[in-house]
Amino acid sequence: MNAIHVGLLGLGTVGSGVVKIIEDHQDKLMHQVGCPVKVKKVLVQDIDKKRQIEFGKDLLTKNADEVIHDPEIDVVIEVMGGVELTKEYILQALQAKKHVVTANKDLMAVYGTELLDAATENGCDLFYEASVAGGIPILRSLVDGLASDRITKMMGIVNGTTNFILTKMSKHGSPYGEVLKEAQELGYAESDPTADVEGLDAARKMAILARLGFSMHVDLEDVSVKGISEVTDEDISYSKRLGYTMKLIGIANRTRDKVEVSVQPTLLPDFHPLASVNNEYNAVYVYGEAVGETMFYGPGAGSLPTATAVVSDLVGVMKNMRLGVNGRSAVLPQYEKALKQSDE
Ligand code: NAP
Ligand code: HSE
Repeated sequence: MNAIHVGLLGLGTVGSGVVKIIEDHQDKLMHQVGCPVKVKKVLVQDIDKKRQIEFGKDLLTKNADEVIHDPEIDVVIEVMGGVELTKEYILQALQAKKHVVTANKDLMAVYGTELLDAATENGCDLFYEASVAGGIPILRSLVDGLASDRITKMMGIVNGTTNFILTKMSKHGSPYGEVLKEAQELGYAESDPTADVEGLDAARKMAILARLGFSMHVDLEDVSVKGISEVTDEDISYSKRLGYTMKLIGIANRTRDKVEVSVQPTLLPDFHPLASVNNEYNAVYVYGEAVGETMFYGPGAGSLPTATAVVSDLVGVMKNMRLGVNGRSAVLPQYEKALKQSDE
């Protein structure tokens, strides 16, 4: 196979990590897929901006068409964020028969089904591992590793920014505003951190987890959400004194006749396994009827951990290209549709 050419939409925290991993791990990528991987073009807003990585300005563009419609580009990696414009770009890329990898939970939580349908129609892959829990391969674990089991409960810490804030407030008595600023500087927070602190980012991730874990459609509007913006220093110090740790916890529960998904600040006894998940780290507990209890743990935000998930998805796309089996990633929404129809 000749070189695989990749186009990026975005070169911020995650995009820079993607470029770095593609460059630094070229030997591993060659070993996995048998050909070199080259970044051909990158969409940005500001070509002259000072960046975290050395990157030739001739490879940057402000014109999305130069990425999406370049006939040489095989795979488009979307790491720019946002919803409506990004959806439009991804649809165009799929229609142009490009495979797509995205880290965008805002988009996948709202338009995931539609985009996955478009991927199937165009015989393309659309992978989104990085959209939930950063570097933890939780989506693949649900879809592949636990494919044979009936999952009934998922619970965990799925937002790195709020976990970082709560950890620093609790362990160092740092003020909320100061720690939020630090989380932004470290690249953990969204460009508008409201979604992080109000629990929406975690709600989007829980909706994605519930869909994949329970193999059914879950509307984002049906997820009940409360964030940490009203948590005070006093709440944290009282809970500490009583032997509890405050965490922003997402829960998805499936019983015989209903599914409930929620996100809220929760007091956990200090001995609870999730109480010791600190800083930007995430952890997801998954209960399956056959497997029993499983726990997934790792960095939930940040440049290289998130980029690892993105580039691993890229490897998945490239392996499918070699086998000629792209487009199978979208089987799930068809299953969702079948479920919806049988409900009606
Ligand atoms: P970021 O640092 O703000 O980077 C965004 C990049 O996209 C920048 O390079 C920006 O260009 C470019 N961009 C944004 N809007 C654009 C537009 N309209 N046209 C052209 N270029 C545009 O964001 P990030 O933290 O890397 O996050 C990217 C995506 O990954 C988001 O969907 C986020 O939710 C998701 N994600 C992030 C993390 C994390 O830890 N940060 C983890 C998991 C998932 P300029 O550089 O020129 O401004
Ligand atoms: N802002 C997100 C978080 C990035 O803090 O978890 C990872 O999705």
